[in-house]
Amino acid sequence: MGFPTKRLNNGVEMPVLGLGIYLMENLNEMKQAVESALKAGYRSLDTAQMYGNEALLGETLQTCGMARKELFLTSKVDNGNQGYENTLTSFSESLKKLKTDYLDLFLIHWPGQQKARLLDTWRAMEKLYQDGLVRAIGVCNCEPQHLEWILEKAQIIPAINQVEHHPLFQDEALALWCREKGIQMEAWAPLIRGSFDLPGLKEIAEKYNKSPAQIILRWNIQKDYIVIPKSIHPNRILENADLFDFSLEEKDIAVLDQMNQGQRTSFDPRTFDF
Ligand SMILES: NC(=O)c1ccc[n+]([C@@H]2O[C@H](COP(=O)([O-])OP(=O)(O)OC[C@H]3O[C@@H](n4cnc5c(N)ncnc54)[C@H](OP(=O)(O)O)[C@@H]3O)[C@@H](O)[C@H]2O)c1
Repeated sequence: MGFPTKRLNNGVEMPVLGLGIYLMENLNEMKQAVESALKAGYRSLDTAQMYGNEALLGETLQTCGMARKELFLTSKVDNGNQGYENTLTSFSESLKKLKTDYLDLFLIHWPGQQKARLLDTWRAMEKLYQDGLVRAIGVCNCEPQHLEWILEKAQIIPAINQVEHHPLFQDEALALWCREKGIQMEAWAPLIRGSFDLPGLKEIAEKYNKSPAQIILRWNIQKDYIVIPKSIHPNRILENADLFDFSLEEKDIAVLDQMNQGQRTSFDPRTFDF
């Protein structure tokens, strides 16, 4: 049986758990991770033009024995490929590298601070969607300001906003804003990039007989985020998928909620430009 799914605003079903593909840089690592993930029930794989590993993933998927329609493939337009024509061209290159003729989800990787460029890029995303080349389109790292720019002109509302989200960085106001517009939240770095030795977490993990990683991932899911933890290790990939036989009680969710320090691991999308 597959993992639970979320219904996006256009009716497409997306698994609530996928494998992050960032920093998988050689074929052996990619094969080990993706094959273990598929065996553990993962179907959703999150790559990006920026990661430079779409071709490695494409090659891996050729030999994994899984039908294309069973998979949920996400990629993202790189910052340097923004703009109408460049987005379309780079999307075709992504398809070639991934050895497929459609994507399940295509995202804008970073919004930047230039409204006209972002709107041109979104127009290209809509064209790809209308041409049937991608089943859902969305954004990453968007603040309400960026989404307001898009929504002013959009024919299609983004299905997803993929943002940094973990116990040390939570933006509840943004999540609320997106939910009101029908935009599903997705968490990147759900495991704080591996640095999750947080006070109080071990005690919660012991209470549920789960690992600290499983508690954080389960918390993300109960906060209504899709999660895409990255690991190259088969045992961790399996561990990160064992999330669906328990639920955190409200009081334990509150303990993780209270860990928020507004501490990002990467750029601040309110100021980052390129
Ligand atoms: N849209 C964006 O701007 C954006 C930005 C960053 C990331 N992303 C996406 O989000 C995905 C996830 O984010 P991320 O890779 O930055 O960070 P993450 O998933 O929070 O953490 C990954 C790190 O945690 C370690 N890890 C994984 N499972 C573990 C476990 N059970 N126990 C202990 N350590 C564990 C991994 O090590 P090992 O690999 O050695 O196991 C790796 O170092 C990325 O892969 C990428 O697909 C998107």
